[in-house]
Amino acid sequence: MALITIDRKKCKKDGICAAECPFSLIELSDADGFPEIRPAAARLCIQCGHCVAVCPHDALSLASISPDGFQAIGNGSPPTLKKTGQLLTTRRSIRTYQRQTIPRDHIAQLLDLCRWAPSAKNEQPVNWLVMENPQAVHHLAGLVVDWLRTGTAYPGIVSAWDQGKDMVLRGAPHLLVAYAREDSLKPEVDCTIALTYFDLAAASCGIGTCWAGILMAAVAAGHPPLFEALALPVGHRFYGAMIFGYPRFPYFKVPARKEARIIWRS
Ligand SMILES: Cc1cc2nc3c(=O)[nH]c(=O)nc-3n(C[C@H](O)[C@H](O)[C@H](O)COP(=O)(O)O)c2cc1C
Repeated sequence: MALITIDRKKCKKDGICAAECPFSLIELSDADGFPEIRPAAARLCIQCGHCVAVCPHDALSLASISPDGFQAIGNGSPPTLKKTGQLLTTRRSIRTYQRQTIPRDHIAQLLDLCRWAPSAKNEQPVNWLVMENPQAVHHLAGLVVDWLRTGTAYPGIVSAWDQGKDMVLRGAPHLLVAYAREDSLKPEVDCTIALTYFDLAAASCGIGTCWAGILMAAVAAGHPPLFEALALPVGHRFYGAMIFGYPRFPYFKVPARKEARIIWRS
């Protein structure tokens, strides 16, 4: 089956598919004006689906994505800038959590949305590890504290742990780890963006999150017990993590942030 098929009965030769293809793999024929797929497409097409999704006449199909894989946008408009702004400014890093865990299907719903995060060359390399057991999250925090004890950074976090307070993973019921094959194109960037999608999707439905920076530092330092506990599949690497759960306290104000620093060039 051809990589991209053009239905000549529907095609209006408007050239939109050609204009939108990221690698200019579609060109309009000089002879009859219909789109043609360049031979290089076999090598360079990244299966982004833009040619199909942008055609107003439903004239294209991709061998790699079934027609059911394209959801109609219809009249559904994106949220207003005001609504989006509300989400972006009211999202907070949450450090105190209810004990209650979040149902798996709710977490899955949020992770499902993260599939639409951009990724280098549309590789979609992100995989997830979801820790559902609060005791296992606590155990990981303890391993990070063991690592902290080997150095001099964050003595306060170690002494807090010894007094029963977890300042590493904050007593959160869940931990989300983004991991990817290490031979992906930009795995760290892709995982970071996907985690940020999760962060925002979670905030939109009252779930609190916080980047697990100290855990990330311990993994980057190569603390072996952490690798054993995380047990990621061979050939894959850890690229970021976030704690999450239902927040204990609501926030009433949006804290000020630095002004945007911009160089305008005209
Ligand atoms: C890469 C990264 C690592 C972070 N690590 C931690 C962490 O280990 N512990 C923590 O309490 N907060 C951590 N944070 C949260 C930041 O402290 C927080 O984003 C910042 O204070 C701004 O607060 P806000 O997110 O509520 O706007 C981290 C944030 C990022 C982006």
